[in-house]
Order: sequence, then C-alpha cells, then structure tokens
Amino acid sequence: MAIESREADDCGAIPGDGGLPLLGYTAQFLSGKLTISRERYDRYGPVSWFRVFGIKVVTAQGPDACGEVLQNRSHAFASGPGWSFLIGPFFQRGLMLLDFDEHHLHRRIMQQAFTSDRLAGYLELVNSTLAAGLAGWPSGDFHVYPAIKQLTLDVATRTFMGAQLDADASRLNTAFVDCVRAGTAALRFKVPGLRWSRGLAGRKVLEDFLYPQLPAKRADAGDDLFSALCHARGEGGEQFTDDDVVNHMIFLLMAAHDTSTITITAMAYYLAKHPEWQERCRAESQAVGTPTVGYADLAKLSSLDLVMKEAMRLITPVPGVMRKTVRDTELLGHFIPADTYVSVNLYGAHHLSEYWPDPEHFDPERFADDRRDDKVHRNAWMPFGNGVHKCIGLHFGGMEIKAAMHQLLLSYRWSVPPDYEMPIDWSSLPRPKDGLPVRLQRL
Ligand code: HEM
Repeated sequence: MAIESREADDCGAIPGDGGLPLLGYTAQFLSGKLTISRERYDRYGPVSWFRVFGIKVVTAQGPDACGEVLQNRSHAFASGPGWSFLIGPFFQRGLMLLDFDEHHLHRRIMQQAFTSDRLAGYLELVNSTLAAGLAGWPSGDFHVYPAIKQLTLDVATRTFMGAQLDADASRLNTAFVDCVRAGTAALRFKVPGLRWSRGLAGRKVLEDFLYPQLPAKRADAGDDLFSALCHARGEGGEQFTDDDVVNHMIFLLMAAHDTSTITITAMAYYLAKHPEWQERCRAESQAVGTPTVGYADLAKLSSLDLVMKEAMRLITPVPGVMRKTVRDTELLGHFIPADTYVSVNLYGAHHLSEYWPDPEHFDPERFADDRRDDKVHRNAWMPFGNGVHKCIGLHFGGMEIKAAMHQLLLSYRWSVPPDYEMPIDWSSLPRPKDGLPVRLQRL
C-alpha cells in the first residue's frame, strides 16, 4: 500500500499515517507484516504512528527508541494496559500485565520460584520428560514444529504442575493455543466459534483445571512450579492468593510454552540448513558424556548457546511488546499524550543493518567472545525484552532449550533440501506454516 503523505496528529510532530480509511493498518498488523518490515523505519524513522482497529498506535523501532520505552525512566509506559488490548481477557493479572508497585511485589515473590536451586530441581523433570517424548520420534520424514510443541507442553505441564496429563494434554494444548491466538482476533468480541470466543473458552478450561488442585499444592511443598508459587514468600512474608497463583500459572504456562517451541524449532531449522554447525554442536554434546545435560554442564554447550542467540535474533520469538502511556511523556524528543498505545519492535532491532552486519545471514559467531556484535548497543539484542518486565523465565527457557537440543543432537541427525526456506506465519507468535518438514535419522 502506498501512502505517501505525512500527517501531523495529536502526537505532535510524530511522523506517520493512518493507512486505509476505516481499516487503517489492521490487516498488516494482524499478519505481522508491520513488525517484520523496515519500511516504516526507513520512511518515518524510529518513532512513528499508524492506526489499527481504529486506534492510534505509536511504534518504537530501533534500539534507542525501544530502549527508552522499556527502561521507562519516566514511569509513563505501562505494560498491563498496553498488553490488555491484545491478551487481557485471556491472561488477566499475569505478571506481565501488572505494573509499578504491584508488579514489583509480585515479581519479588515469583523470583523465589526461579532461583538456581529451583532451576536445578526442575531440570530433572525437564530431562526425563524430554527423553520420554523424544524416544517416540521415528526415522524418516518428520514435521518438527508440532512434535516440539507437544514436547514443550509436556515439559511445562510436568515441571510446572508436577502432573502427567495424559488424557487432559490435548484439551489443555488446545486451550493454550486458543488463548494465544485470540490476541490477534480480527473481531474483538464474542462470536461463537471465532478466535475471541475460543480464547475465552480456553481460559475457562485452564481455570477449571487449576483451581481444584490448589488445596493439595498448598498442603504439600512439591518440586514443581505450582507448589513453588503456592509457598513463595516476599521479604515481608507476603504470599500469593489463590487467584494470584492461578493467574500466574496460566500466564507462565503460556509464556514458557510457545516461546521455547519457537526457539527450538528455529534452532532445528538453522542446524538443518547449516550441517557444519549441527556437527559442531553434536560434538560438544558428545564431549559432555551424558545422555541428559546436568545443570553444571549447561555452560559447556557454548556453540549451542551461540546458535540459540542467533536463532532468537533472526526469528525473534516475541517480535514486539505493547505498552500504553499513563501520563503525557516524550519518546526520543517526540511528545506522546497520555492513553496512547505504544508498540515496541524487538524483531526490528535485531535486523537493522546499521547495527548488525549482513543482518539476514545466519552467523552465530557474532555472539562469540572475540566479536560480541550484540554489544554494539545495549538494546541491539533483546529477545527477552528489557527493563523491569524483562523475562523472568529466561534462565528456565535457556535451560529447557539446551536440554532439548542436547538430547536431540545425541539421538538424531536431521536435514532439509539445500534450497529449503522455512515459511513463517507472523500473525501471532512466529511459527512455520509447513510445520518444518525434515529428514530425520536416528543415530
Ligand atoms: C525462548 C524463551 C522465551 C522468550 C523469547 C521470552 C520472551 C519474553 C519477553 C520478550 C518478555 C517481555 C515482555 C514485555 O516486556 O512486555 C517476557 C516476559 C516474561 N516471560 Fe518470557 N520468554 C521466554 C521464556 C519464558 C519462560 C520459560 C517463562 C517461564 C517459565 C517466561 C515467563 C515470563 C514472564 C512471567 C514474563 C513477564 C515478566 C514481567 O512482566 O515482569 N518466559 N518474556
């Protein structure tokens, strides 16, 4: 769409345009094209505005603009009101949807569930769940994405709830997917059978599953995350209420599930495209000498770490995050009034040639100690976000991803045709449209 005019607007001198009459840029927003294209950045610079669903949204692109919003020194950019627009009804009162003092308190309590001792405890459950799931993968033609999605769901439910789901697994998986996808529903009200209604029904399935288990989790301090949240205490002895625990669990399950799935899938894709890296990572895993990786061994998988970082740069699992201004403020000198939605483009910062040489090229060595291209700017690489809402699960996520890749590398070799390019659907969180078909060979 060619819209050449620059409109002045109530955001003062912020450049931008509303797009098509009535529709604005809704179609491009829903398809994710607005996030993955640098066209607006070239046309308008790091701060611009567009319209979706009839609402004016300011977008921050590039590390300076993104950093200023995420660091939020002005305390003007709130996360809850920003995200509620997309996922509020489905993930209400999850940590990411809380702000300021309340967020700070909840985060301090939740931190108790992510200490290194806790993580080491979770890793045993993670490893055994991965081993059981991977054992069923056949040799031959195989779709990686759905299998990884199933695997990370098993890991999340087993590690988070301490439960083997069996019969409930596919019902819960559907409920998560419906909640996540509801965020990009074109019709944002209840119409039976459509995305928004399915999201609300999904939320109800998750609540009905979790609430009845609370008394047992409160009574018994188990090793799982659900128990950890029930027993976690803030410095003043504060505890989560039953509603808090359920709200946090639903958000955590979602936050952990799709993000890890996407990252493992992206790594599997790049390792198939670049067999020399697959062999290098496999040799490193073989050198660890154990079929499952221990907590202290994770640091030995340094090539895998480079691949993980590069895969997250290229296929950013959470391409953008939302905020809303709660007071008048400024962004890179542009006035932004209170009650303005602000989208922060994480994907864009990872693909700017001004910061990343040959940005579309897969080159894990960018992150090697002797290069550290990511150090060019403190917000050049931020797949986990930044500031007070920076991902609380980043160590859990890294641990799960490396544990899964370690087992995969030791058990299988996989390949794709040399000319294969993974087609990605960016309409919600990124996922391969074709499920990532590979040729799998058991070792
Ligand atoms: C590859 C894996 C992951 C990626 C790329 C990722 C990405 C992100 C990003 C970008 C944010 C910031 C959102 C914002 O600023 O609005 C975030 C927040 C969060 N993530 Fe993750 N995440 C991952 C894994 C996980 C895991 C495994 C968990 C839990 C076990 C988790 C739990 C959370 C929570 C609770 C927040 C909200 C933090 C807050 O508001 O204080 N994430 N994540």
